[in-house]
Amino acid sequence: MTESSLLEMENLGKFYGNVIALKGVTTSVYAGQVTCVLGDNGAGKSTFIKIIAGAHQQSEGTLRVEGKEVMFESPRDALALGIATVYQDLAVVPLMSVWRNFFLGAEPLKRIGPLKWIDKAKASRIARDEMGKMGIDIRDTEQSVGTLSGGERQSVAIARAAYFGAKLLILDEPTSALGVKQSGVVLKYILEARNRGLGVIFITHNPNHAWPVGDRFLILNRGLSMGNFAKDEITRDELIMMMAGGAELEELTRELEAAAAGDESLKQVAEEFAHEVEALEGPPEDDD
Ligand SMILES: Nc1ncnc2c1ncn2[C@@H]1O[C@H](COP(=O)(O)OP(=O)(O)OP(=O)(O)O)[C@@H](O)[C@H]1O
Ligand SMILES: [Mg+2]
Repeated sequence: MTESSLLEMENLGKFYGNVIALKGVTTSVYAGQVTCVLGDNGAGKSTFIKIIAGAHQQSEGTLRVEGKEVMFESPRDALALGIATVYQDLAVVPLMSVWRNFFLGAEPLKRIGPLKWIDKAKASRIARDEMGKMGIDIRDTEQSVGTLSGGERQSVAIARAAYFGAKLLILDEPTSALGVKQSGVVLKYILEARNRGLGVIFITHNPNHAWPVGDRFLILNRGLSMGNFAKDEITRDELIMMMAGGAELEELTRELEAAAAGDESLKQVAEEFAHEVEALEGPPEDDD
């Protein structure tokens, strides 16, 4: 393997008292690739990124950034190594202008002697240019971020992270609150960031969003890793199956069939469900 990983984790685990939020997760994240972290509610996705982002410390296991072992004390430590996290809700301030949101306290300054003030023209220009690189055309950088669409808001946060030197961009469920079209917009920005050479960790519970953009897939289920695959090692249906937990789907099928024994309308639902699960598992002759 010639490509070197940005981030490696080995046997990562996190316990909250006696709750096991994450256990035994081993994976690598590469520059210029999108690594999707998939899992249902409570699977451990947020716990996983909080550790990488420096918000929480792992209870066990090791984390290496560009080959060097680290134990983050705070998000500042992670940021200093180029790890930037875009949280769904905290990403932008809706009432502030686009350029203000882009800089958030790190605006370029003009100075004359002891006087200094924000170089608004420069800040505006940089914000517009950087957003342009992500393929988004902002007519007026004075407009408040609240007037942008959900997908565009995410893009402000993504463009900002890239401009301030992020090597690894973590996106926590950036599409979960968006409709189909806006989700598409965010998926496009994810690819833009990847094409610019950033490593991207994309957290989602939607395999239909992960599949078209992902280079690698880490599947979590109840805090455990269900596997770690490159795109050519897995199919979309297998991905969905693993996320849902194949055994659990089969059990649900049996329960539905039992409940449907005396109920005609439920019988049809049970049959359709069984068919869908079968289709997901694929025909038996596929498993060579
Ligand atoms: N601070 C905490 N204290 C105790 N338990 C926690 C804490 N944070 C998470 N957990 C537990 O750890 C498990 C994993 O939670 P986590 O938030 O990582 O899941 P998730 O995959 O992000 O879920 P969701 O899709 O709902 O956001 C859950 O069972 C959760 O209840
Ligand atoms: Mg979560």
